[in-house]
Amino acid sequence: MFNFFKRKKIKAEGQEKDDNTGIQAAGDKTDSDALIGSRNEIKRIIAVISGKGGVGKSTVSGLLASGLIMRGYRVGVLDADITGPSIPKMFGLGGGKMAKNNYGIMPARSKMGLKIMSLNLFIADETDPVIWRGPRIGSAVGEFYSQVDWGKLDFLILDMPPGTGDIAISVLQNISLSGAIVVTTPQDMAFTIVRKAYNMLVSNQIPIVGIVENLKAGICPHCQKEFALFTGMGVEQWCSEKQVPYLGGLPWDSELALCADQGKMENYYPAHVDRMLDSFISLSQDLKNAEKLDS
Ligand SMILES: Nc1ncnc2c1ncn2[C@@H]1O[C@H](COP(=O)(O)OP(=O)(O)O)[C@@H](O)[C@H]1O
Ligand SMILES: [Mg+2]
Repeated sequence: MFNFFKRKKIKAEGQEKDDNTGIQAAGDKTDSDALIGSRNEIKRIIAVISGKGGVGKSTVSGLLASGLIMRGYRVGVLDADITGPSIPKMFGLGGGKMAKNNYGIMPARSKMGLKIMSLNLFIADETDPVIWRGPRIGSAVGEFYSQVDWGKLDFLILDMPPGTGDIAISVLQNISLSGAIVVTTPQDMAFTIVRKAYNMLVSNQIPIVGIVENLKAGICPHCQKEFALFTGMGVEQWCSEKQVPYLGGLPWDSELALCADQGKMENYYPAHVDRMLDSFISLSQDLKNAEKLDS
């Protein structure tokens, strides 16, 4: 068990002082621990998963989150992929300066106001390796999530660890999800990787909001024309066979890669992202226990 708020009780002239000692094994609970997470009201937690790393999971998480906040929703992003700082980096956030209040760890804020939390934010140097391994990461992420002062959110986007192994499954089991989005490329369709991700969600009884097809085509940086990148099986066709909603395709776009690298993800909002948002928001209405979203 991890507790970011372990406090050493120091008796000084009849008063107890707090000494925040950072990430470590949980000790005795203090009265003020009861407040941690107590004002969190999160309407929907949506996981973004993929069959393997490098297919655009963090990119899709970042685009969804910034698109939702642009439309006026209250949005948080939890980076559960602790192997690299992609989420903080794409929003221009560096590590090593996290603060807390009585209600929990205070999330970092993007320029547009996204609440962002990542274990990577606790690491001052982004080249330091994060050493947690295996199912321990899953339970650590679950506890970490509950110790954040998220406040009221319409959406919490959870950028999952890559793949369908122990780590991803333990995160799914430790956080109560409203639904999940699967990110794939046309190439992955040819290797059944996306089917594994789909099966993982079905066997864990997590509603599938839909599939996003990343790298559907390329955009030429010179003439802006689209060209085919892969010759995999049609993702849309697979979705219609399985009766899974197709949320749309994203082309490979050097402009997007540049925005992500420069920490300016919120500046990227072309028409295909807007269409993906339309589909996502209308499908989110149907999620279990979902309240009607104000648009
Ligand atoms: N549609 C795209 N156009 C341009 N670059 C992309 C696109 N999708 C992903 N990338 C780039 O590819 C790399 C891997 O994407 P990422 O979202 O981090 O993958 P994952 O989270 O699945 O490991 C990143 O550098 C990202 O900026
Ligand atoms: Mg990632």
